[in-house]
Amino acid sequence: MTPKIIAIVGKSGCGKTWVASRMAARFARPLVVIVHTHPDPSYLRQVDRARARFVGVYRGAQPLAASFLVDCVRSGVRYVYVSIYNLGPDEARAWLDSLVPALEAVGNLCLIVDEAHRFCRHEYVPERLVELPRWARSIGIDVVFVTHRLMDLSPDLRTVLTYLVLFHSDEPRDLAECSQRLGAARAIESVVRSLSPWQHVVIDLEHGRRSPVRVV
Ligand SMILES: Nc1ncnc2c1ncn2[C@@H]1O[C@H](COP(=O)(O)OP(=O)(O)OP(=O)(O)O)[C@@H](O)[C@H]1O
Ligand SMILES: [Mg+2]
Repeated sequence: MTPKIIAIVGKSGCGKTWVASRMAARFARPLVVIVHTHPDPSYLRQVDRARARFVGVYRGAQPLAASFLVDCVRSGVRYVYVSIYNLGPDEARAWLDSLVPALEAVGNLCLIVDEAHRFCRHEYVPERLVELPRWARSIGIDVVFVTHRLMDLSPDLRTVLTYLVLFHSDEPRDLAECSQRLGAARAIESVVRSLSPWQHVVIDLEHGRRSPVRVV
């Protein structure tokens, strides 16, 4: 199974977290680590609570240990839902970086970083997290970044994406980037501009293809 590096992009309320939570349920990996800045009802509704562990990260919290993740897998836990809402942006970035060695040690999992625009921007990027997609393929890690704008993600992150999930957008820079990435298929701009709430398209960046308009 080829690991996927996905960005889910759209305005507030368009359905990004809804789609991410559906994805979380469908990934074939034994473990899904979901990092979110606030408790989100979409995940809580869709995550199978019997198979979930909830972790609240507070100021000064220890990094999540690889042994914790391994124990989760062994005991049938499928979702580790991590709330970092207590952390400021700098603390959140440091904590996210501290998570990477544990993910690296465990492998064969999916990491979802919701509200990634808060942490993975040009001016302040969690370095190890940004490096993760570069070697995620070799250890079987899928990574999903959920963000308001594609261009909010750092260029390093954008270049390693394999899929884009696009909701309605009028952002000229986002639309220009999508057109550029899709090469000749420039019709993507008008498609994305005309999407209704909850509708989205999936772009396979490696093969330059796009899905029909979807709602899940
Ligand atoms: N396909 C859908 N069918 C039914 N309800 C949906 C669908 N997509 C989203 N919703 C509902 O719409 C609301 C907003 O969705 P969601 O939280 O996923 O938006 P978001 O893009 O993640 O917003 P934000 O950027 O503010 O986090 C939620 O109440 C969610 O339950
Ligand atoms: Mg959301």
